[in-house]
Amino acid sequence: MAPPLPARFITLEGGEGAGKTTLARRLADALASVGLPVLRTREPGGSPGAEALRGLMLHGRVAWDPVAEAMLMFAARREHVARTIRPALDAGIWVICDRFADSTLAYQCYGHGLDAAVWHKLADVALEGFAPDATLVLDVPLETGMARALARALPDRFERLGHEFHGRVRDAFRAIAADNPRRCVLLDAGQTPEAVFAGATAALRDRLGITL
Ligand code: TYD
Repeated sequence: MAPPLPARFITLEGGEGAGKTTLARRLADALASVGLPVLRTREPGGSPGAEALRGLMLHGRVAWDPVAEAMLMFAARREHVARTIRPALDAGIWVICDRFADSTLAYQCYGHGLDAAVWHKLADVALEGFAPDATLVLDVPLETGMARALARALPDRFERLGHEFHGRVRDAFRAIAADNPRRCVLLDAGQTPEAVFAGATAALRDRLGITL
């Protein structure tokens, strides 16, 4: 019998309303149906401390200094990795995470203008080289994404930032995918959920050797 595949860390990235949650659910179901244990999680959040920081960042009343906000994102991320993601991987559980460090580069740096050098420093300190094994970047036209996001829920403060901001975030994710071709794949998320899922499973087969 072939040895079992090691548990892998898969992240989903993209702008508002790209369909990350739907894809995460389908991938988790697909992994489970081939007998692999899987954990779905999301950022900001995913551990008790990180969820507390999520509340401060997304729903609090503070207008954060941009560097402070990025530090909070990475503080939450370090907690999430230490308390949830690494223990799961060490126990042989695959992890599917909705957003990770690429979101801080896209939103805080490209979106809000934070110097990318700050992102690199914080990532070094917080993650110490830890990175996803594969990242699925969902790309959708702004109008489609915003319409989907607004139909779903009340806009939180990130969703109220306007067209130009979200255009920069979209450009960021496309650039991140182009700069990291071994880890990332850019998927056209304007397609049907079935077509997006097929693109995702093909990418995971190529990168991680798993057939779903
Ligand atoms: P959430 O309600 O989880 O929305 P989504 O379904 O779009 O992920 O909100 C997360 C928001 O936080 C989203 O607007 C992106 C933002 N965010 C950052 O600005 N930086 C980050 O590092 C992360 C992880 C998220």
